[in-house]
Amino acid sequence: MELCDLHKSIHELIEKDKSENPVSYNQEKPYQSYERIEFEGLRWSVEKRIREYGLEALYDSSAKVLDIGSNFGFFVAEFAHHFALSHGVEPNQNLNEIGRNTCTYLKVSEKTEFNDVKFQDFHAETEYDRIFSLAAFFTSDKNERTSADQYFSKIERMLSPGGIFFYESTSYPLDESSEDYSHYIASRKAIEIIHQLFDVTKSYETPSGRYHRHFILAHSRK
Ligand SMILES: C[S@@+](CC[C@H](N)C(=O)[O-])C[C@H]1O[C@@H](n2cnc3c(N)ncnc32)[C@H](O)[C@@H]1O
Repeated sequence: MELCDLHKSIHELIEKDKSENPVSYNQEKPYQSYERIEFEGLRWSVEKRIREYGLEALYDSSAKVLDIGSNFGFFVAEFAHHFALSHGVEPNQNLNEIGRNTCTYLKVSEKTEFNDVKFQDFHAETEYDRIFSLAAFFTSDKNERTSADQYFSKIERMLSPGGIFFYESTSYPLDESSEDYSHYIASRKAIEIIHQLFDVTKSYETPSGRYHRHFILAHSRK
């Protein structure tokens, strides 16, 4: 497959998704960006986010990784270059198809798997050494509304002994009167529960556009 064929298939799947899912992350601009395939979306590229979040330090060619809310699958594809196995959980089948096509183009399909399911309904067949929840808890499409306790306990159970978990919140305003303030509340609950369940090694907030995000690096206590 040539790069132009991959781009064509991605744009066709985006159009299909727009018509099928009025509330999706694709309505204005695609969400994820990926330099490796020269694809531009709303967020910084996965390469830049990996550098900014310090995720290269977690690379391990013998480790298995899970990306929750994997969207276009670009983190799954990039992680497949650096881990033994790279799996995604994403309820939107059109987005998973984009991920599968991207992994085929990059010749990493045999290391990857995309599960067409919500995280709360996902049954893992293996323990994972690294789990990433990047803007996937309390999503603004409202498709993720489990309690922080349920969500992060499930991650804790799925991690292998010595496993590492990385959390990025959805973006939130600090202003109580904002209609998006529920995202701030959700992030505070997430921080509280993650501290109860894991050994936290880093916890910090950064500006993100006009809002903020919180990040946590945590280790399994097993
Ligand atoms: C804000 S986007 C973040 C995408 C990606 N993790 C990133 O940071 O680039 C949230 C993603 O989570 C997915 N999602 C929504 N509800 C979900 C659920 N219950 N379980 C897993 N993923 C979900 C959405 O379809 C969307 O792709």
